[in-house]
Amino acid sequence: MTHKKRPLRSAEWFGNDDKNGFMYRSWMKNQGIPDHEFRGKPIIGICNTFSELTPCNAHFRKLAEHVKKGVLEAGGYPVEFPVFSNGESNLRPTAMFTRNLASMDVEEAIRGNPLDAVVLLVGCDKTTPALLMGAASCDIPTIVVTGGPMLNGKHKGRDIGSGTVVWQLSEEVKAGKISLHDFMAAEAGMSRSAGTCNTMGTASTMACMAESLGTSLPHNAAIPAVDSRRYVLAHLSGNRIVEMVDEDLTLSKVLTKSAFENAIRTNAAIGGSTNAVIHLQAIAGRMGVDLTLDDWTRVGRGTPTIVDLQPSGRYLMEEFYYAGGLPAVLRRLGEADRLPHKDALTVNGKTLWENVQDAPLYNDAVILPLDAPLREDGGMCVMRGNLAPNGAVLKPSAATPALMQHRGRAVVFENFDDYKARINDPDLDVTADDILVMKNCGPRGYHGMAEVGNMGLPAKLLEQGVTDMVRISDARMSGTAYGTVVLHVAPEAAAGGPLAAVRNGDWIALDAYSGKLHLEVDDAEIASRLAEADPTAESTRIASTGGYRQLYIEHVLQADQGCDFDFLVGCRGAEVPRHSH
Ligand code: FES
Repeated sequence: MTHKKRPLRSAEWFGNDDKNGFMYRSWMKNQGIPDHEFRGKPIIGICNTFSELTPCNAHFRKLAEHVKKGVLEAGGYPVEFPVFSNGESNLRPTAMFTRNLASMDVEEAIRGNPLDAVVLLVGCDKTTPALLMGAASCDIPTIVVTGGPMLNGKHKGRDIGSGTVVWQLSEEVKAGKISLHDFMAAEAGMSRSAGTCNTMGTASTMACMAESLGTSLPHNAAIPAVDSRRYVLAHLSGNRIVEMVDEDLTLSKVLTKSAFENAIRTNAAIGGSTNAVIHLQAIAGRMGVDLTLDDWTRVGRGTPTIVDLQPSGRYLMEEFYYAGGLPAVLRRLGEADRLPHKDALTVNGKTLWENVQDAPLYNDAVILPLDAPLREDGGMCVMRGNLAPNGAVLKPSAATPALMQHRGRAVVFENFDDYKARINDPDLDVTADDILVMKNCGPRGYHGMAEVGNMGLPAKLLEQGVTDMVRISDARMSGTAYGTVVLHVAPEAAAGGPLAAVRNGDWIALDAYSGKLHLEVDDAEIASRLAEADPTAESTRIASTGGYRQLYIEHVLQADQGCDFDFLVGCRGAEVPRHSH
């Protein structure tokens, strides 16, 4: 089939019978590609984050093969290429450290190559935002295919959820409720198949964000990785991306402000990860969409959490898919007039509402009725105050309602090492009413903003039966974690934020409902403490040691701006400067 509908971007490489055309085609032909494949067919890039070091994406070669079948069937020509794969489970200091690096790889790979459109194969947490960020900066037709979640974990006859069970069982070990042997026995049963974490952690949340943003086909978020329907979806996505070239359905036509508002509402309904706040801010920034933390409050607050999945609830992604998946959630929101923009365009050329208005719902226990939700108000709480002038976030569905308004005495840890060294000290002066405060774990302070904000509680309090405390930091938290945890305090301590001024014994007042976070120390005293010791000195010293780390520290933005690099914000389009050999 020959593509005749509009000039192809790839024709600038392959479309000319001259010296340049010869060179571009000739080297490609060493792969056994016949000449006619270069004559007018859309070239579809398959941007693959496969890596055996990213176990959640290790099945992506097979996924790519199914996308290719769909592309070929629709009359396109698929070309698969690898990009930096930042896997959450292995990569140090944190996969977030390299999210922007991966996005640069993706952006330049798309722009610099003869591609008319791209399929993004994503899965593990940071791969989804990284690839969407890179693609958004280029703005060619783009479709997301997610790898899908793992099957339910199994341990001693019960279901266990990725990550969440680690937090639960390790606290039970510390509290003396189970043995270390019992804990270790869960290891083999947690990850039983290919795929991403099966809780509503960051990977599943970002898959739901991609679907609610309209960047994937319906049901992309929840089909288990090993379910044959995942491969059908990959095949259909391959079909569809070729049509998108004909329609010139570029990413910017999908990623509008309306799409982001739908995603924010969706995040509240699914009890999604706090990491989504950072990633959506960054993707919006690349697309030139003006999204702020206040949009999360305006659009998200007041939305009930109706998906009963761990870590906020009981079930796992397998049950979520069998219950109807994200389309059933969106239908439920839409029927109650709680989907802000039903007319938002999606990659299949239909509106979000057209895609979900007839979606079946099979299990009301997993996807709850709006009038019997898991949490009445699951919208992300954004707090400001003299402790977080540029904002901080808290996930209410994972928090203890009684602690959402709390005043307590600060127990301060200067950094994560200090926390680890002292948290289980029997002499630590701490009670259940205190507030654990940790500094220097933000984007600059911990090179990637580690997921350590859900500080485990002191062993001596766990032994007393304490299950939650207010915790405040400039860190992130794994999407699989839970607790009354104030995260993403901005500016962070290492950037000179007031968090750096908190001292043991200071009083802090939190009101997550009204969005207040107040350090009960007067402004002059805070200023004098900050002046006394320059909190930015250590990260500035590390920045001078060179390498990617220097680039990162010098250019990373704060959490409220999505932790992108300042020089990467914005859409630069797909045009490359002309040149000839
Ligand atoms: Fe990869 Fe959770 S570690 S999705």
